[in-house]
Amino acid sequence: MAAPMQRVEFYKHDLGEAEIASVADTLRSLFLTLGPRVGAFERAFGEFLGVPHVVGVSSCTMGLALVLDALGVGPGDEIVTTPMTFISTPNAALFHGAKPVFADVDPKTGLLDSKAVLAAITPRTKAVIAVHLYGQLADMKALRSICDRHRIALVEDAAHATEAENDGVRVAELGDATVFSFYATKTMTSGDGGAIAVKDPAIADRLRRLRNHGVSKDAASRHGNRYAHWDMVELGYKAAMTDIEAAILLPQIERLHRRRDRRQAIVLRYERGLAGQRDVDLIAWSGRSSHHLFTVLVPGPVRDAVLDGLGARGIGAAVNYRAVHTLKYYRETFGYARDAFPNAADIGERTISLPLYPGLTDAEVDRVIAALGETLSAVR
Ligand SMILES: Cc1ncc(COP(=O)(O)O)c(C=O)c1O
Repeated sequence: MAAPMQRVEFYKHDLGEAEIASVADTLRSLFLTLGPRVGAFERAFGEFLGVPHVVGVSSCTMGLALVLDALGVGPGDEIVTTPMTFISTPNAALFHGAKPVFADVDPKTGLLDSKAVLAAITPRTKAVIAVHLYGQLADMKALRSICDRHRIALVEDAAHATEAENDGVRVAELGDATVFSFYATKTMTSGDGGAIAVKDPAIADRLRRLRNHGVSKDAASRHGNRYAHWDMVELGYKAAMTDIEAAILLPQIERLHRRRDRRQAIVLRYERGLAGQRDVDLIAWSGRSSHHLFTVLVPGPVRDAVLDGLGARGIGAAVNYRAVHTLKYYRETFGYARDAFPNAADIGERTISLPLYPGLTDAEVDRVIAALGETLSAVR
């Protein structure tokens, strides 16, 4: 009898003994949240990025919300961003009563088109949020110069791009604030979690307060023999990173570059294997991408059938993303038509993300390539 077919999972984390030991140490210690491990992670991640201040938060979603709050974003303001992203990016504007204004993407890379960004800016624009989709940096030099000319903030949604660099620019180098995600499928993970990198110490202090209800002192800094009162000085959120999350993240930092290099090798194998494959277009990338996702474009009318076919062949796949302006809430609230942002809509209808993580073997990559070819032949 043939051996049962092993599934190729869409994502597998590689947390192991180092993370287990780090969490065990934390559980044996006094502080479980906003304690010394959060500080240690913030310093270590800041060094990794080359950015002076990192603020650990509960997710990238909350990090984006905190950043827009710190920028004073409110009702009547507009935030320019891409519709080819996860909903968290534009939702951060909605949390503050501001309007997300979309600019279309480059059809080859899926990244914000800076000319479209320029055209979307109005006197009400408070910030641009660039998204480093799939791990490739957006055109940060062009976006920085647009934002400087219009005196608006440039925020980086770096949920996909912890290790990225392009055109001589590192992630978090040109943005006023850069937000990372440590969600379960990200290149560094604590299940959930996030971080904000900033250069300005006053903004870092403000973000630390905002993540902790807007109170003046956190529990660890009040710890001692004398009771120290705290005060609420502004309205904040419950959005801090915990020491358990920091303990899971700390040992991963030194593996980040090695793991990125392995993902790039996998991407190159996919690209060689799929070159010339009928009905498959590849996303263009350059520079040092984080390679968080490997995404192919197939014909829109058969995309969902291809997803089903891959699933039936034991291959995990995902859609990153259907364009945000085509989702029900955004369609109904803002009245967007599909063709308001045709490039993003087109990618959203055609995109399929294939398995990509350091533990994926070459043989598994080859199985995915073969399964995609078979599936496309079957659905044509
Ligand atoms: C581009 C992008 N932005 C933001 C987020 C939100 O991250 P989190 O789950 O940490 O809130 C994600 C997560 O999938 C993402 O892919």
